[in-house]
Amino acid sequence: MNEHGGGTNIGGMGRVLVASNRGPVSFTQDASGALCARRGGGGLVSGLSSVTGEADLLWICAALSDADRAAAHKAPGGRLDPDGHDMPSPVLMLDIPPETFHQAYNSVANSTLWFINHLLYDTPNQPQFGAGFTGEWESYREYNTAFAKALADSAGDDGARAMVQDYHLALVPGMLARLRPGVRIAHFSHTPWAPPDYYRMLPDDVGRELLAGMLGADHAGFLSARWADAFLDCCEDILGAEVDRATRRVSYRGHVTGIGVHPLGVDAADLRQRAKAADVEAHVAALTEATKGRQLIVRIDRTELSKNIVRGLAAYRELLATRPGLHGQVTHLAFAYPSRHDLPEYRDYTDSVLRIAREINDEFGTPDWDPLILAVKDDYARSLAAYRLADVLVVNPIRDGMNLVAKEAPIVSERGCALVLSREAGACDELGGDALVVNPYDVSATARAMYEGLTMPRALRRRRCAALAEAGGALPPGQWLTDQLTALG
Ligand code: G6P
Repeated sequence: MNEHGGGTNIGGMGRVLVASNRGPVSFTQDASGALCARRGGGGLVSGLSSVTGEADLLWICAALSDADRAAAHKAPGGRLDPDGHDMPSPVLMLDIPPETFHQAYNSVANSTLWFINHLLYDTPNQPQFGAGFTGEWESYREYNTAFAKALADSAGDDGARAMVQDYHLALVPGMLARLRPGVRIAHFSHTPWAPPDYYRMLPDDVGRELLAGMLGADHAGFLSARWADAFLDCCEDILGAEVDRATRRVSYRGHVTGIGVHPLGVDAADLRQRAKAADVEAHVAALTEATKGRQLIVRIDRTELSKNIVRGLAAYRELLATRPGLHGQVTHLAFAYPSRHDLPEYRDYTDSVLRIAREINDEFGTPDWDPLILAVKDDYARSLAAYRLADVLVVNPIRDGMNLVAKEAPIVSERGCALVLSREAGACDELGGDALVVNPYDVSATARAMYEGLTMPRALRRRRCAALAEAGGALPPGQWLTDQLTALG
């Protein structure tokens, strides 16, 4: 047993450690101090669920709130037991000092690295790396150090594999390799990667430290060949690393990192089953009633700056302005989950979404027709109901690592939905052939694609939707995860 209570290997896959900022469970605390756990979703949770029982798993994450901290303190050795919380593995929640966490997560990860990887800066004004950034970067290092140490302490003595997730933890592979040379390390980026000309906006030493940190991994995975190749370009141009394009291998300071492309898909059987549950049926009934059998254009997003909701709604406005025959015949359901409201840019963006939605309903609405139904609230069952009913699904991000909405909706679609898809989403690699592919900045082209989706012959739409569903379910999370473990050896 190590200090965090890791046991011995229990199956064929050995010890697998996962590290991510957000873990598979979060807590809230009521007025009496009682803690209530909520299980998270996503590909990693579902991927790990498929290897539970075969591997000795431990998931290391950050405590994100006071309630998480309280739960971590109460847990024996800080380790939360999976059985008590419906999680795929035991979880070690790190209690990182709140100010360090805030600077690492909000200032560096979300306000800097996210913006770089999604090309989101308003470059005449931002970014500005002034005196404050030095302290923020130091916090990012400290936060990465806390993860690297926890991984090193939990690795045991017999060939553990560590799977480090995302831009929050880019320095961890290098740190862990120095602390525990025997541990096999994978890093996975769930976001796009920026081309060198954009990446170079980071302070030079910071840009190099991030790349070198990731190259501490034995395997670095990306969701699309585009993002993997952009990373290789940065390694070559900015770090001067030796890059073998044919095998996607990078040599830097005597260490070789294999670069892998691992697109993530959906567990279709699970999703179909979930979409039939009673709570989803209730939403299907309510939405059918509210939209009175009209054709439905659907979009489901987190209110991320990268999701391009404002241009998507502008395209719908243009559709209604140019096609008066659609008035009263179509409804747009736009369900936007709140996200990162600690950042002013996100609050402003949500306001912009609400403003354009109001304008559309004011301009086109009638007493018996709401052209747009927008909700900014997290409701998975309602999203699944909207998937089932969609005639056209709009996924138009400025840039997106993958985008699972584009893969999920066709799998449960009852009407055989058409997919309007941004060419800048990783999912376009696999879905582009059967989607209506758009340039996400081109509002008029997006409006035309919406119209094409609404008017596509039903049989063709169904055929294309079936092909999208097939592609969306081709690489379920279990396979995504085991492919990476296999690549690690
Ligand atoms: C998106 C990205 C992931 C990232 C996550 C973090 O889903 O695709 O790469 O890990 O955001 O979100 P959070 O809410 O934890 O900041």
